[in-house]
Formats: sequence, structure tokens, C-alpha cells
Amino acid sequence: MSEPHDQSPPPAPTGPHRRRPRYSGRNPRRFEDKYKERQPERYPETVAKVLASGKTPAGAHRPIMVGEVLEALAPRAGDTAVDCTLGYGGHAAELLARLQPGGRLLGLDADPLELPKTEARLRALGHGAETLIVRRVNFAGLAQVLAAEGLEGADCILADLGVSSMQLDDPARGFSMKEDGPLDMRMNPQRGLPASGLLERLQPQALVELLEANADEPHAAYLGAALAGRTFASTLDLASAVRTALPRLQGEALELSTRRVFQALRIAVNDEFSALETFLRRLPDCLKPGGRAAVLTFHSGEDRRVKKFFAAGLSAGAYEAVSNEVIRATAAERFGNPRSAGAKLRWARRASAS
Ligand SMILES: C[S@@+](CC[C@H](N)C(=O)[O-])C[C@H]1O[C@@H](n2cnc3c(N)ncnc32)[C@H](O)[C@@H]1O
Repeated sequence: MSEPHDQSPPPAPTGPHRRRPRYSGRNPRRFEDKYKERQPERYPETVAKVLASGKTPAGAHRPIMVGEVLEALAPRAGDTAVDCTLGYGGHAAELLARLQPGGRLLGLDADPLELPKTEARLRALGHGAETLIVRRVNFAGLAQVLAAEGLEGADCILADLGVSSMQLDDPARGFSMKEDGPLDMRMNPQRGLPASGLLERLQPQALVELLEANADEPHAAYLGAALAGRTFASTLDLASAVRTALPRLQGEALELSTRRVFQALRIAVNDEFSALETFLRRLPDCLKPGGRAAVLTFHSGEDRRVKKFFAAGLSAGAYEAVSNEVIRATAAERFGNPRSAGAKLRWARRASAS
């Protein structure tokens, strides 16, 4: 039998009134607190789960087409290699492992925020000053960097273009069209104009040309008129203005146009095409005779340039061989890492007797 309900009033509270702690919500609001993968030492099982689901753990970057890059570069013990785009250091770690004994790697990146973390990770793998040199520099200046290090040329040179997952995923860097952040997009936030400043200054026709040249955007005319000269405080403001400018587009078509607007601005803010052209022009001189270069690209504007410079180098006799066809990630890699889907790899080998 159940007890009768107690009808007496609740006891009067004793002591001063205390506010109940505010419910902070089950999901952290800030990117920095959101992902356990950002502390891989504490949460290795979370990292493993994310990788198994085909995603890249937040705060990391998975190197793309590692096997194909290594085959193209053929690094050997004793070689001097350059990774022009160190990023998270995934390709660099694989190269470093093959350069010993006696070899060294020069690692470059323009990003002053990620580079120290990457250098620390590679040093923790046991690579000291004699095997790994790290410089924060734009790869357009590769020839000068080699000269400053007293190197006549490299046996292997890798450039894996574009931005890293760490840069893309961190809303504070302003590359993300999914999470809100300042509209910045600079790989080196200490230099140049952020994307918001660029948009404020551009005339509509100049923006139309930029969207066409940097991203082959088919709706550039509408977007140029709607976006140029305006002030956008954040990435989501810009994404929503793109939606408003293209009211007839929906779903994937709208997402693709938004992506292309972000890509075109990022290329302009970082002067990516002129850096790439300077790099490609000087590349044969940066390789030792017989030296190998590999370039990974992520959109047609980059690949067109690589193809053109490699073909010109081959006909001029600066290269003795270049890849005939573009090399793509395998179906398995594309499935496991969707960021590899658009990647194209080309290689070139400097003439032995030039
Ligand atoms: C796709 S990520 C490289 C990822 C790297 N291969 C890895 O395994 O982690 C591209 C990197 O290149 C850097 N970068 C892009 N353009 C550059 C340039 N012109 N000079 C130097 N670094 C550049 C970016 O800051 C970014 O860290």
C-alpha cells in the first residue's frame, strides 16, 4: 500500500537566496570549445571516429594523394626537398621520413598562425634544425629563399595549393561560409586588405571581372552589381547577400555560386594567381638537374596555369618530362576524404643537362 501524500507546507528556506546557475546550453557556442578533436591527446577516440566517418578532424588537415605525390617526387635519402605549402605538415612528414639519412626539408608557408604549431609538431617527431628548416614566406619568393639558405637547388619541390582545413574551418579566419566570422580570408592576417575591405573598394565592373577570372562565376553580372562597394561585417552577411542577389537560385546551384564568390575573393585577397605564376616561372631554376616538382591544384584557374607553364618549360627544354595527363585521387580516397575530390596533380622533371 502506498503512503498518503504529505500535506504539510515545504520548509522555509534558510540562509541567503542563491540564483540557480544559468543553463549554459548543451552545445558550446564558440568554435574553440566546440570540437573535442582540437585536443587530440585528450580525445583520441573522437579523432578516430571523425576519421572513420570520412571527415577531417577540426584543427587538422589530411594530406591529399600522398602516394601519388611521393611517386612523382621520388624522394631519396640525402635529397634536399622543399614543401612550399607546409600546412599541417602531412606531406612534409612523409617526405622527411624518406630523406634520411643525410637529407633535409625546407618547409614554407605564408600563415603566421598555423606555421609555429606545425613546426612544433614536426620537431616533436624528432626533426632537428639540420633536417628541417621552416620559414614563413610566400612561395613566390622560393628562388630568394633557396639563395638565402645557400642552396643551389632542390631535388624535390611540392606545392599543395589553396587553403588548409585548419584555415577553412576556423571562423575567425573568415574563409568559412558556414560559420560566422569576420570577412577576412587573409592567409597572413598581418598583411594586406581583408575581403571586407576589398569589397568596399571595388567598383561593380571590377568585381564582375574578378568573379569571372578567379572562379568562372556564371552569375557575375548580378553579383557584381549587388555586392560591390558594400560593407559586409561577416562571412554570413556576405553569404546571405549572395542569396538575395540570386533569388532564382536554390539548393546546390546557390551553394556553388556562394562557394565561387568566396573562392574568387580569397584568390584576390591573397594575390594567389600572381604568386603561383611567379613560382611557376622560377621553378625550373629552383630545381637541381633531374629534380622533380609536383603541384596539387583545386580549381581550373590553378590547373590551367600549371599545365601552361609545364608545357612551356618542356618545349623550352627546361623540363625533360612533364605529366601528360592530370592525376586524380582514387575513388577510395575521394570517398574517405571529400576534400580530395577536386584535386589535380601534375609533375615536371628538370632536364638533367640544362
Ligand atoms: C592545402 S594546404 C597544404 C597542406 C599540406 N600539404 C599538408 O599536408 O598539411 C595549403 C597551405 O599553403 C599555404 N599557402 C597558400 N598559398 C601560399 C603561398 N603563396 N605561399 C606560401 N604559403 C601558401 C596556406 O597557408 C596553407 O597552409
